[in-house]
Amino acid sequence: MTRLNEFPNSQRRAIEVVKEVAAEKECRPFLVGGPVRDLLLGRNAFDIDLTLEEGSSTLARALAKRLDGRVRSFPQFLTYKVTASEFPEIDIATARKERYRAPGSLPAVAPGRLKDDLMRRDFSINAIAMDLQDESLHDPADGARDLKKRLIRVLHEKSFIDDPTRIFRAIRLASRLGFSIQQETAALLRQAVTSGALLTASKERLWRELFLAMEEEEAPAILSALNHYHVLEALFGVKIGRRITSGLELIRTELTVRPDLDRYVLYTGALLRGSGASVSQLEGSGFSQKRARAAMQIAHDLPRLQKALAAAPSDRQRFRLYKSVAPEMLALLMADKPAEGEHVIRFEEFRKFKLALRGNELEVPAGPHVARALERTREAVFSGEIAPDQARSFAREMAIKYLGRE
Ligand code: CTP
Repeated sequence: MTRLNEFPNSQRRAIEVVKEVAAEKECRPFLVGGPVRDLLLGRNAFDIDLTLEEGSSTLARALAKRLDGRVRSFPQFLTYKVTASEFPEIDIATARKERYRAPGSLPAVAPGRLKDDLMRRDFSINAIAMDLQDESLHDPADGARDLKKRLIRVLHEKSFIDDPTRIFRAIRLASRLGFSIQQETAALLRQAVTSGALLTASKERLWRELFLAMEEEEAPAILSALNHYHVLEALFGVKIGRRITSGLELIRTELTVRPDLDRYVLYTGALLRGSGASVSQLEGSGFSQKRARAAMQIAHDLPRLQKALAAAPSDRQRFRLYKSVAPEMLALLMADKPAEGEHVIRFEEFRKFKLALRGNELEVPAGPHVARALERTREAVFSGEIAPDQARSFAREMAIKYLGRE
């Protein structure tokens, strides 16, 4: 092996086994798409995508057996997925032709030759195959040339119309690899957006692409580029501000220190800032009500919250405001105004602070007033309003007061 030696260890071992099994079963697998592109660029590749003109099911089953793994089959796409512990996922497909019955819908597939399979793909750099036996390249769309020129180029002029998710993919890949979108391809991309191509794909598919953009290291640049090409406006149906980049950068920085935060909620909120969007703009995102609410808070409520905090006379008031917002919003608040950090840290301490007092120690009738009184007492002890040994009598007094109001 020469070039294939550049793969990381577990990929290399997997390829060795594929070659052995293929020789035994007399079939001819080609490595295709992303892994070939990344290998030729000297980048790490993670998945192994194989295509065969014949024998994909034989190879998939024999490989799963050899690796002591399992095989799943997806007959509508003529593909198999082999998984085994300590090996990367291996996708095995029958070479196929595709026909788009309607723009934006999933294509009808039929078995085809290797060349058909390469020419149905999104970009020339993703349309290169490597014969695993001798490492020769099959490159009918001149992808190797575009790799050298660092260009993203579609293979035919209806590519973005047939499959509008490729609009996202072009921008994502260009940013990830540091490539440019070839001039004619960029013109086709713009035309596709203007002609409403994005409306032909389901919202769910488009959101999936948007989430993939948010997972990339260069998410702020990719999201800004999607905005530049008016892709976000088409997806959300509202006008997005032109100056979103600094807000997105702030989020990227925050996520490096707080990887526990919900990146999708944060980025979505930042994209919709000042757009007047409502939850209906989130259709297809799959966000729960809680996450949708958090995204909307980030989009619309930050200035209002900052104003209310500036006017809050005490810790108690501030804590009530903090309690009313999502953790993502709190993090953003700190990132935006570092001076707020001290208060928020105190609030986090307050959140963890426990009062050694139980409702049944108050000797009042049970009901919601008891929980309210205990919470009020927890605030009072934490803030020093009362001494800890006054907690029980204070709580009892509050409970009676609240009970009178019920
Ligand atoms: N493909 C395509 N059109 C799409 C999606 C995928 O033509 N809308 C083709 C491309 O040739 C791509 C291959 O299917 O290389 C596999 O798709 P995927 O795994 O999504 O992409 P990769 O190129 O492997 O990229 P990544 O590194 O992001 O996984």
